[in-house]
Amino acid sequence: MAPSVNVKLAGATLLATSVLAQQAYNHTASGYPTITTGPDASATTFDRFAASTYLPLTDFSNEQLALLWDQVGSISSAAINSTVSPTPEPSVYPKPNYLHPLVPAYISEVEDAKLPDDFLWGVASAALQVEGAAADEGKGPSVWDFLPHRWANSVLDNTTADVAANSYYLYKQDSLRLKALGIQSYSFSISWPRVIPFGKGPVNEQGVKHYDDFFEDLLSNDIKAVVTLFHWDTPLALFNSYGAWTSEEIVADFVRYAKLMIERYGTYILPSYKYTTVWYTFNEPQYCNWRFSGYPYGSLLPSYNGIGTGGVKAAFLCGHYTLLAHAEVYDWYKNVFKGTKPMSFKNSANWITPNSTSAADAEAVQRVNDYNMGWFGGPWTDGDYPESLRSTLGDLLPTFTQEQKDKIKGSADFYALDGYTANIAAAPPNGIAACAANSSDPNFPSCAVTATVQPDGFPIGPNSDAGATWLWSTPGGIRPYLSFIENEYFPKVKGKGIVVSEFGFADPAESQFNTLGQILWDLRRADYIQGFLDNILAARVLDGVNVTGVFAWAIYDNFEWNSGLGTKFGLQYVNLTSQERHPKASMFQFLNWFKLHGQDQTATANITAPIGHKRI
Ligand SMILES: *[C@@H]1O[C@H](CO)[C@@H](O)[C@H](O)[C@H]1NC(C)=O
Ligand SMILES: *[C@@H]1O[C@H](CO)[C@@H](O)[C@H](O)[C@H]1NC(C)=O
Ligand SMILES: *[C@@H]1O[C@H](CO)[C@@H](O)[C@H](O)[C@H]1NC(C)=O
Ligand SMILES: *[C@@H]1O[C@H](CO)[C@@H](O)[C@H](O)[C@H]1NC(C)=O
Ligand SMILES: *[C@@H]1O[C@H](CO)[C@@H](O)[C@H](O)[C@H]1NC(C)=O
Ligand SMILES: *[C@@H]1O[C@H](CO)[C@@H](O)[C@H](O)[C@H]1NC(C)=O
Ligand SMILES: *[C@@H]1O[C@H](CO)[C@@H](O)[C@H](O)[C@H]1NC(C)=O
Ligand SMILES: *[C@@H]1O[C@H](CO)[C@@H](O)[C@H](O)[C@H]1NC(C)=O
Repeated sequence: MAPSVNVKLAGATLLATSVLAQQAYNHTASGYPTITTGPDASATTFDRFAASTYLPLTDFSNEQLALLWDQVGSISSAAINSTVSPTPEPSVYPKPNYLHPLVPAYISEVEDAKLPDDFLWGVASAALQVEGAAADEGKGPSVWDFLPHRWANSVLDNTTADVAANSYYLYKQDSLRLKALGIQSYSFSISWPRVIPFGKGPVNEQGVKHYDDFFEDLLSNDIKAVVTLFHWDTPLALFNSYGAWTSEEIVADFVRYAKLMIERYGTYILPSYKYTTVWYTFNEPQYCNWRFSGYPYGSLLPSYNGIGTGGVKAAFLCGHYTLLAHAEVYDWYKNVFKGTKPMSFKNSANWITPNSTSAADAEAVQRVNDYNMGWFGGPWTDGDYPESLRSTLGDLLPTFTQEQKDKIKGSADFYALDGYTANIAAAPPNGIAACAANSSDPNFPSCAVTATVQPDGFPIGPNSDAGATWLWSTPGGIRPYLSFIENEYFPKVKGKGIVVSEFGFADPAESQFNTLGQILWDLRRADYIQGFLDNILAARVLDGVNVTGVFAWAIYDNFEWNSGLGTKFGLQYVNLTSQERHPKASMFQFLNWFKLHGQDQTATANITAPIGHKRI
């Protein structure tokens, strides 16, 4: 680490000095200063929206890496900056007891139901949100290192992911803890710019070595690895060079990265694929929309590919290249690599109910589903976009060739749903047709409005933290939603299975608590966990939906994107000063549920706590 840091600083300082030396501003005049251009310079008119030629990305030097980090700004470093050896976990954890037992079961018919042996379950995270070590050991910056530092107020509490839960150095204790708690699987992501700092070009040996150790460590603790290749941390260099996901060029760069990771961590070593149990190519590509709604983030990044100030065009270009990249990786994995593990991508979508019985509100529900699920539904349909996208978006939606559609069709082994909440949908006041015909309409292109209050004005469920205003505790929504996906929206999912790849809750104002006494009894999250799990089990056992796995977000408190470190989703509390982790009540709610309903509960610690009326 040390050599590249030194070179980095030297290179950056040199360049900054020479640029400044060429400029001579006359600050003595009043009004606008005169610019002394020198004999060989002439004035010109600049327009960054006219940028069309990509900046060549061919220099993969330490100096170039240093410039990228200068673009991000000064990175905080952690007190703990080398891999920590784990200490033994306690045999008994402090946990809820009878004075306030865990939340009772929601659905009595499934109280004694058992899950099959091969049911996949565990906790989840993503690299950017937990790893920290943002600029350590040769890592390149991602756009999510960049934004919190350079885009004022882009993160609600002005925090960054520089250190987060520092799991880059603390992972050995984390996986020992997972083992001690008896958690079967861990769903996490690999950081693309950590293994390929510029997104393309050379591989960073130290980054790969880290993941080698990380995978080995999980394996030695008998924890199944559920691996996401991309969870939003696009290498910043690819934005600079060609506009990242708005250019088709990203497909080849992503596919190369994906192949490298699959070759390394999906290798066939007897008696089975050694490391990875499930592959996800992408996390929630639906948030192309959100990631690009402000793109190019004011004046911060170039505006390539005719996207102007970002918005709808950028979002649908991004979705397009995401689908092509996914299909390419899937095809290679199955047909060339001959991989046999299940591969899919994680979808962000929620149960939507109409605000009234009107035909317009029914159409609004359909449109919300199309613009969430249908947009990335090609693998479950004919490989193309839904009609409601094609007819509304017109030229704003790129088209696939027949060959591309054929490759997208069928390119997922199961449906992965990140289904956190529910929504009410209604037609907009000016009507769906008027909105769909007007790309300037504020509700374009979905042309539906969603709400978190019922038609009678009562909220759909308990609210969450101010940093997650989209999230309401609605366990009753997940059960009909799972049936809807398999039986109505994507009938091709039948027989393939659905994994609830994320669900979780952020208790209101949790970050304002400052003692363990206030923090650890997280009643709303515990209630949410019990309600969701019971409803998911009911979908499986009572409704016959083929739910094959479930993952709680999150392993512990982490960096919640635009909401920052202050919006807490952890089943474990993370003390950001000491970096100690403490299981919250919700963790015991989760573990107890699998103790009751799972077959392969291998807990070595005493994790059992009394639950409602039924003490175990
Ligand atoms: C700076 O501006 C002042 C006022 O306009 C002028 O008198 C002076 O010559 C300028 N100096 C240079 C170096 O251009
Ligand atoms: C690691 O942390 C120690 C103590 O805080 C510090 O002295 C050292 O410079 C750090 N090393 C690196 C490579 O940042
Ligand atoms: C975040 O930083 C900006 C710019 O310095 C400031 O205006 C804003 O008040 C800060 N927000 C918080 C929550 O501290
Ligand atoms: C389109 O929507 C914009 C924004 O609401 C509005 O100003 C404009 O009048 C609408 N155009 C038409 C033709 O309705
Ligand atoms: C839903 O219906 C209620 C009652 O008619 C109405 O007050 C409310 O505005 C509607 N919600 C939306 C999002 O249109
Ligand atoms: C459920 O999905 C799994 C694959 O995830 C499949 O092996 C199994 O046959 C499916 N079961 C049913 C009843 O469709
Ligand atoms: C977090 O750790 C610091 C340093 O060890 C300690 O002073 C503080 O009390 C801890 N906070 C909580 C909530 O336990
Ligand atoms: C459970 O706790 C008891 C002490 O209360 C301890 O003796 C026992 O070893 C623990 N069991 C496991 C599996 O850690």
